[in-house]
Amino acid sequence: MSVSGIVLVTGGAGYIGSHLVTQLLAAGRPVRVLDNLTFGGAGLLVHFSNPSFEFLHGDTGCLDDVDQALEGVTSVVHLAAIVGDPACAQAPELAHEVNVRGAQLICDTAIKAGIRRFVFASTCSNYGRMNDPDKIVNEESPLSPVSLYADQKVGFEKYLFENATGGFEPVVLRFATAYGLSGRPRFDLTVNEFTRELTLKRKLQIYGRQFWRPYAHAADLAAACRLALDADSDKVKARAFNVGDTNENFQKETLVRMIVEELGPEHDLIEYVDKEEDPRDYRVDFTRVRETLGFRPTRTVREGIREIARAIRSRMIIDPDNRLYRNV
Ligand SMILES: NC(=O)c1ccc[n+]([C@@H]2O[C@H](COP(=O)([O-])OP(=O)(O)OC[C@H]3O[C@@H](n4cnc5c(N)ncnc54)[C@H](O)[C@@H]3O)[C@@H](O)[C@H]2O)c1
Repeated sequence: MSVSGIVLVTGGAGYIGSHLVTQLLAAGRPVRVLDNLTFGGAGLLVHFSNPSFEFLHGDTGCLDDVDQALEGVTSVVHLAAIVGDPACAQAPELAHEVNVRGAQLICDTAIKAGIRRFVFASTCSNYGRMNDPDKIVNEESPLSPVSLYADQKVGFEKYLFENATGGFEPVVLRFATAYGLSGRPRFDLTVNEFTRELTLKRKLQIYGRQFWRPYAHAADLAAACRLALDADSDKVKARAFNVGDTNENFQKETLVRMIVEELGPEHDLIEYVDKEEDPRDYRVDFTRVRETLGFRPTRTVREGIREIARAIRSRMIIDPDNRLYRNV
């Protein structure tokens, strides 16, 4: 697969996008970002001196913006979205506008423009809840989304696969839950949020302590997008890949134990609550991405905990509760 040409990254100013843009530019790839800067654009400021970087302030739901964004582009990584169950539940109309209509507009326009590779950021949340807690799901397992967010991701995966005719090569990446820092930090994701709360010695209530979830560093998820951009068509066209590490599936209670181990016993301010509020519960197998794309995660959750704790303790992040660091 040729690696020349501009890569369009929608949502490139976001948590995962700011890592991806940095990595693509470091690899010598020209990058264009289309983003409406819902959470600002601080993560991209360092790139404005780089002539290979272009930024378009615009909306994935606006045809003019999308047309302009796709001009001269050879591949797309579509990250822009209303991200997460709470954000979609809070603004269902906007979620439909962005996650369904906007996504389809980018896809249709990319096909018309003759773009081949189209990488879509989906989620392991699509698996919903496991009936058998000893089972581990893979890409062939049935999808049973239990939220509007996951429902929309599953819907757009289908849309892409239905359109995978001719030269159009959609690739679906089902990301594990991300952790770690980025140019646009998020503190509303499990590892980051729990680590922030316990680092600051706040009491932490844990719901669904036994629930499993896979985790991956935001930088590693970005690296998987690069692999998906460059892989041979016969390996990736119209296929889904879970992105994460099979060894990094954890129950919430194991996760908080790890955080306390890293921070020290005086940070053990956990209260378990027996209310199954979040119905997602899944353990995921990541063999396919490893064997087909050669994906190797470079960080572990434990390292991510240390990274977050250091950033907060050093006061590098002065206000970790800032509105810009969460999606709701
Ligand atoms: N973070 C995770 O744990 C995780 C897990 C699974 C899947 N994903 C998926 O990865 C992608 C990136 O997630 P993230 O955590 O970086 O989220 P994020 O919210 O930090 O980034 C999304 C970016 O998209 C932009 N955006 C939103 N609506 C837009 C629109 N209409 N037009 C243009 N730009 C728009 C936002 O301004 C933001 O910069 C999303 O598609 C998300 O669903 C993330």
